[in-house]
Amino acid sequence: MKQPDSPLSTPADSEAVPASKFKITFRPGEDTIEAGEVDPTGHHEGEPGSILDWADQHDIEIEHACGGFAACSTCHVIVREGLDSCNEASEEEEDMLDEAPGLTLQSRLACQCIPDGSQDLVVEIPAWNRNLVKEGAH
Ligand code: FES
Repeated sequence: MKQPDSPLSTPADSEAVPASKFKITFRPGEDTIEAGEVDPTGHHEGEPGSILDWADQHDIEIEHACGGFAACSTCHVIVREGLDSCNEASEEEEDMLDEAPGLTLQSRLACQCIPDGSQDLVVEIPAWNRNLVKEGAH
């Protein structure tokens, strides 16, 4: 049974589901979305409750060439705030991130990075990813 006032079980638990709403602000557009309970029956891009999943549900475009399976690095984002509330990157994710241009200590694959809902996030979508989105819109 879900406990409504606990933020989550543990950040490292990929099955963890935020019990309270939290905000994700995407830069540079400063689009802020409200995230919350993951729908276990819904369609998901990447891991359920991942940054990519929340972005997709709110029409924020993040490139995701492999479909969210940690098999490319096109969904690379930089979590500027709230990274401590996210799950640990797996070895598979870190291997893919090594291929990403502009790697930083706060870099994650949006399809694998699952916030636990205990903090609001600020997520930067790198310029090359935004360019892909812009070119794809024509
Ligand atoms: S979409 Fe390919 S690794 Fe995230």
